[in-house]
Amino acid sequence: MKALVYQGPGKKALEDRPKPGITAPTDAIVKVTKTTICGTDLHILKGDVPTCQPGRILGHEGVGIVEQVGAAVTAFKAGDHVLISCVSACGKCEYCRRQMYSHCTTGGWILGNTIDGTQAQFVRIPYADTSLYPIPADADEEALVMLSDILPTGFECGVLNGKVAPGNTVAIVGAGPIGLAALLTAQFYSPGEIIMIDLDDNRLEVAKRFGATATINSTDGKALETVMKMTGKRGVDTAIEAVGIPITFELCQKLVAPGGTIANIGVHGKKVDLHLEELWDRNISITTRLVDTATIPMLFKTVGAHKIDPKRLITHRFKLDKILDAYETFGSAAKTKALKVIIEA
Ligand SMILES: NC(=O)c1ccc[n+]([C@@H]2O[C@H](COP(=O)([O-])OP(=O)(O)OC[C@H]3O[C@@H](n4cnc5c(N)ncnc54)[C@H](O)[C@@H]3O)[C@@H](O)[C@H]2O)c1
Ligand SMILES: [Zn+2]
Ligand SMILES: [Zn+2]
Repeated sequence: MKALVYQGPGKKALEDRPKPGITAPTDAIVKVTKTTICGTDLHILKGDVPTCQPGRILGHEGVGIVEQVGAAVTAFKAGDHVLISCVSACGKCEYCRRQMYSHCTTGGWILGNTIDGTQAQFVRIPYADTSLYPIPADADEEALVMLSDILPTGFECGVLNGKVAPGNTVAIVGAGPIGLAALLTAQFYSPGEIIMIDLDDNRLEVAKRFGATATINSTDGKALETVMKMTGKRGVDTAIEAVGIPITFELCQKLVAPGGTIANIGVHGKKVDLHLEELWDRNISITTRLVDTATIPMLFKTVGAHKIDPKRLITHRFKLDKILDAYETFGSAAKTKALKVIIEA
């Protein structure tokens, strides 16, 4: 089969690989129909994710058809149309029982990281019963690819942790696919204002179309001033960090109003200062989370009911044999205006 393989920092190739087989009775083999590329794949390619070793097939998102199941799989059978979660969950360990699937003691984010992933014609999914989700017959496959990772991440780490509530003011720093997913799902709760902050005018334009009530290009370093002006010097009830660098987390600390919440989504590789000298008396909360994908079933229903349309995040489409072009397009988003790219396997 064809597969996109990480060959070490800065190197990747489309290779011919043997088709995966069942290695545990709880496994399923899924024929991938659609997959995508995540910012995390770009991090891996930079060499930022040491758990992912050269030789690994990348990808942790996608939909497909079950090809074969192990003897212990009871919820799925060959021919079933399924959504693949980016997080594999045994369903039995202490963390899984608390729905903290990302911390599953024998699973978590392993796909396209410590085991071969979805950017291939076939993928082996461990713990299939609790890591796959059935797709209804009439569902839109492309939209559902956004539910493997992007939508649950924005919703769980940003919106739920950030306690977005009716009438409240929300700021989302970072209008990449994750920040935009937080923007789409924040609207379930009817916040009064959603202010999107980014450096890229094109992404801010998209944010406007996706329901942002205001957008701020923070290139001039005046985002704080502008938000304070917009909120009568109060700040925001929820500040969602969706970039993953010190300056944006520090901005969130300045944006948050008394009683508010800073919900961190970004993956941080560098230390960030915590300004307790300014925050100690402000009754704020700070939350962090690795996406659990525990909300996939709920998000499924919102897509089915047309409450949100995650397909709007898709900007480009490629066949699997053109996946190197897909990486090129996704990796130069400022130039290509790419958000999510669909890869048809
Ligand atoms: N917590 C989790 O479980 C989880 C899961 C998936 C992704 N993530 C993380 O979420 C973050 C966002 O992911 P993404 O795919 O949307 O990334 P992305 O790189 O596509 O988007 C980041 C956005 O931030 C903007 N930006 C950069 N510097 C900025 C600055 N100084 N001020 C304002 N905006 C700035 C960029 O223009 C870009 O639009 C990443 O750190 C990613 O690793 C976390
Ligand atoms: Zn991802
Ligand atoms: Zn577990």
